[in-house]
Amino acid sequence: MKKVYLETFGCQMNVSDSERVATVLESENFEMTPDEDSADIVLFNTCSVREKAEHKLYTRIGQIRKLYSKKKIVGVLGCVAQLEGETLFDKNPSIDFVLGTKAVGRASKAIESVLEGRSKFLDVGEREPDYDWSVAETQKHSPYISFVPIIEGCNKFCTYCIVPFSRGREKSLPAPEIIRHVHKLHRQGVKEVHLIGQNVNSYRPKTSEGLEDFRGATAFSKLLRAVAATGIARIKFTTSFPRDFHTDIIEAINENENLCNWVHLPVQSGSNKILRLMRRGHTIENYFERIDKIKTSDRKISLTTDIIIGFPNESEVDFQDSLKMVDYCQFDSCYIFKYSPRIGTPAYQFEDNVSVEEKKQRFIELEERQRLNQHRIFKSYLNKTVQVLVEKKSSQNNFDLSGRTSCHKVVQFKGSAALLGKIVDIEITESKSNTLYGKVLNTFV
Ligand code: SAH
Ligand code: SF4
Ligand code: F3S
Repeated sequence: MKKVYLETFGCQMNVSDSERVATVLESENFEMTPDEDSADIVLFNTCSVREKAEHKLYTRIGQIRKLYSKKKIVGVLGCVAQLEGETLFDKNPSIDFVLGTKAVGRASKAIESVLEGRSKFLDVGEREPDYDWSVAETQKHSPYISFVPIIEGCNKFCTYCIVPFSRGREKSLPAPEIIRHVHKLHRQGVKEVHLIGQNVNSYRPKTSEGLEDFRGATAFSKLLRAVAATGIARIKFTTSFPRDFHTDIIEAINENENLCNWVHLPVQSGSNKILRLMRRGHTIENYFERIDKIKTSDRKISLTTDIIIGFPNESEVDFQDSLKMVDYCQFDSCYIFKYSPRIGTPAYQFEDNVSVEEKKQRFIELEERQRLNQHRIFKSYLNKTVQVLVEKKSSQNNFDLSGRTSCHKVVQFKGSAALLGKIVDIEITESKSNTLYGKVLNTFV
């Protein structure tokens, strides 16, 4: 039996695709292995969102070719594969096959072709109409948490972003399929589902089938209520697009205990000039209105975001606007990225005129501002009780277990492995900037 090692870069969509690639390969008599050394076939599911992410692919292929004299088959999947297509073979002639973002269901066919002696196999075609979105128990990234894709692709074309080109146009999955999927996971004992998509709140299925019995200002907030009605313990959703973020989402969270109190709403910048150049479709005032609504909830909804610094023409004043914005929003966590020009995007035509040094300075300054805010926010959890889904044994020595709150914060605590997969009450006894520590009070489910 041929062994396959699969490495995944990039977002949850890629992790989710990889789970299904592994599911299909296993059912086609390949053996998945976490050990690249013993593998006959090495697959990379790639990300192209920033230059660094793309570069990782070339570094890793170089390492594989250098380390092993025995020829392993190397296949490139995902976003870099979709964007580069045939040219990947020129960039790196040791690649055996290339499978685009929607062709991942045909991984076994690609491997078989190469095993039969065909070199340079390419498939950047469409998804099969009967594509199976389910994942085998053995291939899930967690036994207790499942990713459930609800929308693929992106129609927004923010000027800096490659995703609409690598993932194609938005396509929503039918609601009955999603709801059936969640029911099934619930029956299997899964505690938490993450509804995933580049922009989940742009969810627009072809028909309202499956949502007729649910209230909601948008199809997405109806879907949230429908998924909540399955009774599964926890539901999280990422990523939300600010312009389409209807405040009814907050109403739905307020009404349903199992809709978790966490919203990831990438703002990208605090300056209206930059937001316009990014073509984000929201102003900072619109964004603040949404934040104000989120903060009025009794549920203490945590708020996380993404910010890009050093976008073309970002002046010191624009950057100061981003600092002010961070202070206003009081994010629970924030991913900060240095602008990375991507070929084929509209912003690639703009001059990348914020110097490397300025980008570095701004990154450090913004990170420090966020760290101070975050420290205060995390400290406010001291002596409070939070509910934690116990996910895994902790990597740190003196605390045995780790999990996440409904508000998506990592909590570490002492406890036996019998608690894995359970939702427990934890009293918070210590806080650091990214992690809470505590002790177990009660176990629920
Ligand atoms: N769909 C989501 C996020 C997609 S990509 C949204 O619209 O917000 C994840 C994050 O990568 C983005 O939020 C953005 O902050 C960052 N990103 C995307 N393209 C980038 C680029 N060219 N340079 C730097 N960061 C980028
Ligand atoms: Fe990229 Fe914008 Fe689409 Fe997000 S909404 S994936 S940032 S184009
Ligand atoms: Fe990267 Fe593709 Fe996701 S570019 S962020 S893996 S959609």
